[in-house]
Amino acid sequence: MPDSYYKNIFEANKRWIEKMKSENANFFEHLAQQQTPEYLYIGCSDSRVHANEIMGLRPGDVFVHRNIANMVVNADLNCLSVINYAVEHLKVKHIIVCGHYDCGGIKAAMQPRNLGILNPWLRNIRDVYRLHEKELDAIENLEDRHNRLVELNVYEQCLNVIKTAEVQKSYLENGFPRVAGWIFDLHKGVLIDLDIDFKKELDKIRKIYDLTIEGK
Ligand code: CO
Repeated sequence: MPDSYYKNIFEANKRWIEKMKSENANFFEHLAQQQTPEYLYIGCSDSRVHANEIMGLRPGDVFVHRNIANMVVNADLNCLSVINYAVEHLKVKHIIVCGHYDCGGIKAAMQPRNLGILNPWLRNIRDVYRLHEKELDAIENLEDRHNRLVELNVYEQCLNVIKTAEVQKSYLENGFPRVAGWIFDLHKGVLIDLDIDFKKELDKIRKIYDLTIEGK
């Protein structure tokens, strides 16, 4: 049975090609031209949270990076390269960090136990918990506490995006990109904007993390 499921993917691909061509005969000619997405989306690898689908966007509309719990980690060359390319070459107008409730990565980080190779990754989430320990510990209901950590983690990852030199430099020179934090609520299918005040956060961040001045 799994074998036939696997083969079905290629049958589905053929049907998808026909569907796209029936809507627009030149679809693939357009797709093969250079991409000019307006958005960089940084989200969770969770199979239920599909960037294009939940945003109602088409192929070519959004540059995507996904990892466990939508993290922007300072030593992660993968994520940092994506941000660099999106800002300096694609010149995206918006960078979105999108978390989601019921996030397995966040749940794992909330359990104090050894999870082997996942430990260093989860450490970054545990650090977010420690930064907001007082607020989180005051929430008695475990699900509510989890949900709040999902939100605070998105907020902290937005700050991590703002801490990068290319984002600071591009915003001060061009007025973009702006950084936004979203939550996807799996139960309702709703996208929630955390309404992070980008300009205010940028000003706050630059007090310590200003990377707009060149030199030693
Ligand atoms: Co997740």
